[in-house]
Amino acid sequence: MKILLTGGSGFIGSNFVRFVLRERPGYQVINLDALTYSGNPENLADIESDERYRFVHGDIRDIDRVAELIEEADAVVHMAAESHVDRSIMDARPFVESNALGTQTVIDALRRANPKLTKRLVHVSTDEVYGTLPLDKPEVKFTEDTPLQPNSPYAASKTASDLFVRAAFHTFGMDVCITRCSNNFGPYQFPEKVIPLFVTNLIEGKKVPLYGDGRNVRDWLHVEDHCEAVLAVLEKGSAGEVYNIGGNNERSNLELTHSILQAMNCGEEKIEYVKDRLGHDLRYAIDASKIERELGWRPTRSAWPGALEATVKWYVDNPQWWQRVRSGAYRTYYEKQYGNA
Ligand code: NAD
Ligand code: DAU
Repeated sequence: MKILLTGGSGFIGSNFVRFVLRERPGYQVINLDALTYSGNPENLADIESDERYRFVHGDIRDIDRVAELIEEADAVVHMAAESHVDRSIMDARPFVESNALGTQTVIDALRRANPKLTKRLVHVSTDEVYGTLPLDKPEVKFTEDTPLQPNSPYAASKTASDLFVRAAFHTFGMDVCITRCSNNFGPYQFPEKVIPLFVTNLIEGKKVPLYGDGRNVRDWLHVEDHCEAVLAVLEKGSAGEVYNIGGNNERSNLELTHSILQAMNCGEEKIEYVKDRLGHDLRYAIDASKIERELGWRPTRSAWPGALEATVKWYVDNPQWWQRVRSGAYRTYYEKQYGNA
């Protein structure tokens, strides 16, 4: 199987490339990535010389380029997106362009390059499309049938992309699957997201900015569990279906912060309570029973404290990676390697 992966130089994408090449030695991966601020070819430096892997520097909104690559591939796994909620609150436009228009361009390219529609599209979405859950009803979780009620511009743009993918199935009979997963953690996550931000702040002796009162709850999923689930959907999922993916690992942000502080031998004085995120969703929780029942997947790498401590250790052990990322110095690296975008 030759997979065209979009967004493979980001956090989840780079872990997915490494995971697929390790778990499926016969597979090949073409990674199409525009190398935005969060796309970093250093994430795959160890894979660059692997003959089964090819990097293509390009944008998913370039239909000719995407169609050309689809001709070579057997399936598309679509992860490229603007991914950070706070950035979408500051400026939603790049989210509309990459997430909504970009996804429709991938669909159009699939129709053009693959008129018989035999090639599968796995669209990697998010639990944020469902909106938010109350804190006082722990038994209520997002199922695949929960109404879509996105609350942030990021979530709205991902919902738009989901609906374009759904429409491609219903209108044209395209072979599509949609995955909606909870918060990922693990190595190579851009240090704007809460776990790598807090860990790298603490290493640098800074405080950690906790939004609001820290009561908001997220479900934490190790990135390799997510990669395994996406691969299962690609190989065994039913066309037209949505699959929720979760870690069974709900924590309040305050609990998460305390666990990070403990793993870093730091005290509570390192917490700085800051102004809340606008429209901050209260709780995400995933009912992942469908993917377990139908595809036999469940998380095996997400359990705390072990998985969180290993992630904290990765950032402690790899200062050269996040220091370059924080300073933007890797840009020089990719400009040398690949030229300007
Ligand atoms: P990321 O920001 O680390 O990586 C995104 C990648 O997409 C980058 O390499 C970037 O260069 C690339 N990209 C962005 N716009 C592009 C464009 N127009 N053309 C080509 N490449 C482009 O994000 P991530 O955390 O790895 O998330 C990957 C996917 O998973 C996204 O679709 C996101 O919505 C989804 N997701 C993420 C999480 C999470 O917790 N991180 C959870 C659920 C779903
Ligand atoms: O649920 C899946 C989503 O998880 C993905 O679709 C998104 O791409 C991904 O970024 C993530 O979104 P969140 O907004 O949940 O992740 P983030 O790491 O930004 O924040 C996690 C929680 O931590 C959230 O409740 C806000 C809080 N937070 C975040 C930051 C950056 C803080 O308290 N302080 C911070 O500085």
